[in-house]
Amino acid sequence: MDFVLPLLIVLLQQEVGALKLLQISVPPYAVKSGNALLQCSYDLESDTLYSVSWYKDNEAFYTYKPKSDPKQHSYVVEGVRVDLAHSNHQKVHLRHVELHTAGRYKCEVSADAPKFLSLEKEAFMEVVVLPQEGPMITGQENIYASGDTLALNCTSGRSYPQSLLRWFINGIQVKPDSEMIIPQQHGLYIVKSSLRLEVGPHHLASGQMKIRCESAIQATQMKVPLINLQNTEILVQGHASIYSPSLSLLIIMLLVRQHLVH
Ligand SMILES: *[C@@H]1O[C@H](CO)[C@@H](O)[C@H](O)[C@H]1NC(C)=O
Repeated sequence: MDFVLPLLIVLLQQEVGALKLLQISVPPYAVKSGNALLQCSYDLESDTLYSVSWYKDNEAFYTYKPKSDPKQHSYVVEGVRVDLAHSNHQKVHLRHVELHTAGRYKCEVSADAPKFLSLEKEAFMEVVVLPQEGPMITGQENIYASGDTLALNCTSGRSYPQSLLRWFINGIQVKPDSEMIIPQQHGLYIVKSSLRLEVGPHHLASGQMKIRCESAIQATQMKVPLINLQNTEILVQGHASIYSPSLSLLIIMLLVRQHLVH
């Protein structure tokens, strides 16, 4: 019985006092040319910190050791530029994000003697390139000539990953007839979506028809919502009568609105 109690106390102390890695915080996506803040939160309890190390795809790019001089060090890894002035034992700032910055980020926290406990957590970061301009609708110049058929194209700005384009007529989503993905330099894409529409009286029930093209970016790796929603609208005014089924369409405004939703 004599030795059971001290042993139990030692075990309890290890349980209570041990290092815990609480959370890794990595943005699910970073915007190209911007910055990214990576954070690792841990509770040392009664342990002392030996080191915090960060890895991208298992390659170390940053370590912090409180007993070293200097305390922090960064290693050359493609696409990773550490801002040492804004990094420490809890966070790492990355500067000038590029497409190569995307990857799996791991934070590893190690406790000093006597336990030398080492814990790690990881998270994925994607890099997106947002289009510089909103989607463009073309083809409305031909509406007169083509009578009651609209043939429109919507073209996205250059982005990575490719933009998702969606058409809406009077607020109701309609399927495009075809879509083209056009690769550009630097790994970017332009998307072109074509819509052919036979205009019927129901489209012009209120005297005008609103045709909207929406573009959005969806980072692919995670279930994050669409970002960088942008819309371009054209407004078509016309008149439909049961006695004169051929519609005369008149564009009253091109490119009514273009707005950004964050
Ligand atoms: C739409 O795009 C297609 C494919 O590039 C092209 O053939 C067509 O002429 C374009 N139409 C309009 C109305 O811009």
